[in-house]
Amino acid sequence: MRLDKAHVSPSSPSVLAQLEGIQDRFRTALSGLDSELALRTARAELLGKKGELTAILRGMAQVPPDQKKQVGEAVNRVREELEAIFEAALVDLKRKQRAAELAGPPFDLSMPGRPIPRGHRHPVSLVMDEVLDIFRSLGFEIAWGPEVELEVNNFEKLAFPPDHPATDMQDTFWVDVAGAPAKWRTLLRTHTSSVQVREMSDHGPPLALVSGGAVYRRDDDVTHSPMFHQIEGFYVARDVSFAELKGVLTAFTQRLYGESTPIRFRPSYFPFVEPGAEADVGCVFCSEEDGTRAACRVCKGTGWLEVLGCGMIHPSVLTATGIDPEWYSGFAFGLGVERIAMLRYGIPDIRVLFENDPRFLAQF
Ligand code: PHE
Repeated sequence: MRLDKAHVSPSSPSVLAQLEGIQDRFRTALSGLDSELALRTARAELLGKKGELTAILRGMAQVPPDQKKQVGEAVNRVREELEAIFEAALVDLKRKQRAAELAGPPFDLSMPGRPIPRGHRHPVSLVMDEVLDIFRSLGFEIAWGPEVELEVNNFEKLAFPPDHPATDMQDTFWVDVAGAPAKWRTLLRTHTSSVQVREMSDHGPPLALVSGGAVYRRDDDVTHSPMFHQIEGFYVARDVSFAELKGVLTAFTQRLYGESTPIRFRPSYFPFVEPGAEADVGCVFCSEEDGTRAACRVCKGTGWLEVLGCGMIHPSVLTATGIDPEWYSGFAFGLGVERIAMLRYGIPDIRVLFENDPRFLAQF
């Protein structure tokens, strides 16, 4: 649509004369248009930067000072009316389009629907459940503990000395709780051993529990993520021995990786166990049918993969949680779920587990 430019050019004798009838012409012009784009174009031709009304406004310069107020008001009123005409035309057009749609043929109900892709569990959840199930079948019950934890449960009662490097700002995410006293120092738990402390403090032996969940450390590289998952297991009763620890972990390894997979224990140090050990399983990537292992890149040629920490619960931990070490003994172990998932599915980089790329996740 084009309004008759000659009719309203700034050279016309008076601005008021130019405004005359402009609304009627606009209304008529809009009524013939049948798309939103056409309506908006017509509006721009009149009200836009290079529009006709804008051109008229420029004519204001020639209006004598004593008439400026009156003319200005008139121009503004006309502008508002034009906007109202435009809005009404737009509403009218939408209403007509909707009515036409409703009156037209209905959409085809027999068309096949768009498939909704089905989600599934995350590999970390799958492995977590599988591991917990194995321990459940061995007689352990499931326990739970919070991820935001007190320092006492995460470190102190586990015999970490106050200046232990693990408590350092470099390793631990501390949570600032304004005004909290020192004994309520709070952090994101750095391991699931805090669940041991909670359960042993709340319940007397015998206890045979496993607990899985997220833990947090200031670590970030190909094999470390600042958030990862652990599974903790422990057994406290009369006369629990290291032999039982070995028996339980051997049964676990065989169920998870197969009957012929060996496990070995190496002495290691954790402040809350004595003796402490790290356990390795025979490399699942290079083992042969006959039990020999060829030594590959994943196990760095050793034939063994480190999977967990374990040991006999330190008497001072039993004491700190109200259990008499003269009567009771126990073992504990902690394993990294991502590590097991990576070995299980041959995933080379821990970070892909948390990038949530559907092309990766859909493979499980
Ligand atoms: N909590 C230890 C860690 O995170 C693992 C562990 C658990 C070691 C239980 C011994 C006994 O490294």
